[in-house]
Amino acid sequence: MENFLKNKLTMSILMTPNMANFSGNVHGGEILKALDHVAYALAARYSGKNVVTLSVDRVIFKNPMHIGTLVTFLASVNYVGRTSMEIGIKVIAEDIKNHTVTHTNSCFFTMVAVDENGRPTPVETFVPQSIDEKRRWENAKIRRQYLLKENPI
Ligand SMILES: CC(C)(COP(=O)(O)OP(=O)(O)OC[C@H]1O[C@@H](n2cnc3c(N)ncnc32)[C@H](O)[C@@H]1OP(=O)(O)O)[C@@H](O)C(=O)NCCC(=O)NCCS
Repeated sequence: MENFLKNKLTMSILMTPNMANFSGNVHGGEILKALDHVAYALAARYSGKNVVTLSVDRVIFKNPMHIGTLVTFLASVNYVGRTSMEIGIKVIAEDIKNHTVTHTNSCFFTMVAVDENGRPTPVETFVPQSIDEKRRWENAKIRRQYLLKENPI
């Protein structure tokens, strides 16, 4: 198997006619489902464990997305706690015929590693190295504090 970074993942999906809403554009639920798949895949890849979605932060559909668009999800592990991981996902929409690319939005999933009983289980620590990794780590810590304050355990 080729080498890959276990703290990053890229996935592309072509928006096909079966993904349309009643306006003929892409159904928002299709994007939400794909985001959850990406967050699951990266958190499971990073931790080597089963993971569940605890929270989703900021999904905004500012513009309709057209059928035929190639959507790419660029995901990274931003923060790792004892059992939780924040996965950041940048969404890029490409008009494959006109060769135009738009950054449609970025959002953040908190995923928790769970054992066979569905209880949280520890994950490997992550030490941010690059400038980008350090910036994402600090921003994720702020979001985590906010999430905990708004939704106390
Ligand atoms: C995710 C889940 C296993 C966590 O269980 P829990 O009893 O809250 O576990 P803990 O209190 O030990 O918390 C586990 C981690 O989640 C974090 N967490 C829990 N509640 C939180 C909250 N309200 N805000 C922010 N973080 C929270 C904790 O900080 C901890 O992270 P850490 O270990 O990195 O410090 C449980 O909430 C669950 O099963 N949720 C349903 C998941 C699911 O089915 N998702 C799909 C929905 S359709």
